[in-house]
Amino acid sequence: MNDPFLNAAELSAADLSEAVPAPAPDGSPIRIAVFGTGYLGATHAVAMAELGFEVWGADTDQSKVDALAAGKVPFYEPGLDPLLAQHLDAGRIRFTTDLAAAAAWGDVHFICVGTPQQKTSHAANLSYVESAATTIARNLTKDALIVGKSTVPVGTAARLRELIAAEVPAGLRAELVWNPEFLREGKAVQDTLHPDRIVLGGTSAQAEATLREVYAGPIAEGTPVVVTDLPTAELVKVSANAFLATKISFINAISGVCEAAGADVTVLADALGHDTRIGRQFLDAGLGFGGGCLPKDIRALMHRANELGAYRASALLQQVDEINMGQRERVLDLAVQACGGSVLNHRIGVLGAAFKPHTDDVRDSPALNVAAALHLRGAQVTVFDPEAGDTARRSFPTLSYATSVEEAVEGTDVVLVLTEWDQFTTADPTALAPLTHAPRVIDARGKLDPQTWRGAGWEFAGLGRSVAPAA
Ligand SMILES: NC(=O)c1ccc[n+]([C@@H]2O[C@H](COP(=O)([O-])OP(=O)(O)OC[C@H]3O[C@@H](n4cnc5c(N)ncnc54)[C@H](O)[C@@H]3O)[C@@H](O)[C@H]2O)c1
Repeated sequence: MNDPFLNAAELSAADLSEAVPAPAPDGSPIRIAVFGTGYLGATHAVAMAELGFEVWGADTDQSKVDALAAGKVPFYEPGLDPLLAQHLDAGRIRFTTDLAAAAAWGDVHFICVGTPQQKTSHAANLSYVESAATTIARNLTKDALIVGKSTVPVGTAARLRELIAAEVPAGLRAELVWNPEFLREGKAVQDTLHPDRIVLGGTSAQAEATLREVYAGPIAEGTPVVVTDLPTAELVKVSANAFLATKISFINAISGVCEAAGADVTVLADALGHDTRIGRQFLDAGLGFGGGCLPKDIRALMHRANELGAYRASALLQQVDEINMGQRERVLDLAVQACGGSVLNHRIGVLGAAFKPHTDDVRDSPALNVAAALHLRGAQVTVFDPEAGDTARRSFPTLSYATSVEEAVEGTDVVLVLTEWDQFTTADPTALAPLTHAPRVIDARGKLDPQTWRGAGWEFAGLGRSVAPAA
């Protein structure tokens, strides 16, 4: 083989280990460039600075780059602002829209751009990943390691290797590996600095050594490193999300049985959770999952599994998706029922807009989806969320927004708890009841204590729980 990188997709890790020199052969510290500074990339860039590296974050969005450069994280993520400020002050991190300059500067290039669902199908839109990979490769000024972190359908990295091979300037070498990210919004800083595992897909020995150096901190703490091939690394990430989504839809399906049989799904979930083989996490029956990852990731996997002829996986995920979306209908039905058959001109207080607590992310948020659907049916909806008010207002400007729980509850015919922020689950029902027109609450997250709320005079309804007052 004359130039092994002309068709890098077909090379084995052993071939590459011979071919790729260390990114910083002069012994200087590894320079890390992060492409895409959204929820994943901004956190990753700051975490890399925290681990001691010099970092550039590059994004096509000027306003995001300006905010980050000014020390303002453009989204809510606990703990990220002070770390960003600290590393900006230390001169360890900078942000730019000059993608070519970042590509020319870095030794290790992390791809953290979005992979949203395509508008016309369930498949992932890979145009941002392809564009980032091409830009990096085309502008390299030295041999480099390109590390994919975005969540992609299996087979994407092999295609990107071909794209990269076609773009790398003559005489330079670039290796692409996949290192999927598992961080949770709301716990992103902790998850990035102290991950449960590090998965490295398709690495040569040299690339593995470089990434072990990058992740030396977490590895020293005992974080396991799984070294595997490209397709397995790509599939680990989407399978993890598919499993979590399946667990949520499982308990939501069982909650339907509980309602029909007069059982209580919250007690059932606690009892199930004591079994260490099952575990209690992701067994909260309720409004279901949303956000920028789980829904689009299971749909992309469904699509890819179909393409690959793995129809059973696709059928399973179709059910998971249907059960999940059905939960939004169930909550709407409860609201209509609470308002006596129609929500038209009823005042409804919605507590929660974010897709889950500790984030301001409203992408495919079940809470906001339900609020908008109630508005569409003629209800006067007032939404309060401690962090997601601004992002929600940008997505649904026609809804009314309150600045406190009390303001959202004032004069309502029914209150819906749609995101399980502590502020809502610990709210005082005795103090809130007199503010309402009629004290009715729908707990769509299974986190309120029905007896306490009923004891304070509230009509209480929840998913998978007996509708009748406790005996
Ligand atoms: N958000 C999470 O919790 C999370 C967790 C794990 C994995 N992921 C995955 O990470 C990826 C990014 O997700 P996100 O939530 O950060 O998305 P995001 O939309 O918040 O951020 C993506 C960023 O990429 C930028 N971008 C687009 N094209 C670019 C290009 N060519 N060069 C540089 N920047 C470009 C966008 O302007 C945006 O700022 C997705 O594949 C997602 O599935 C996300």
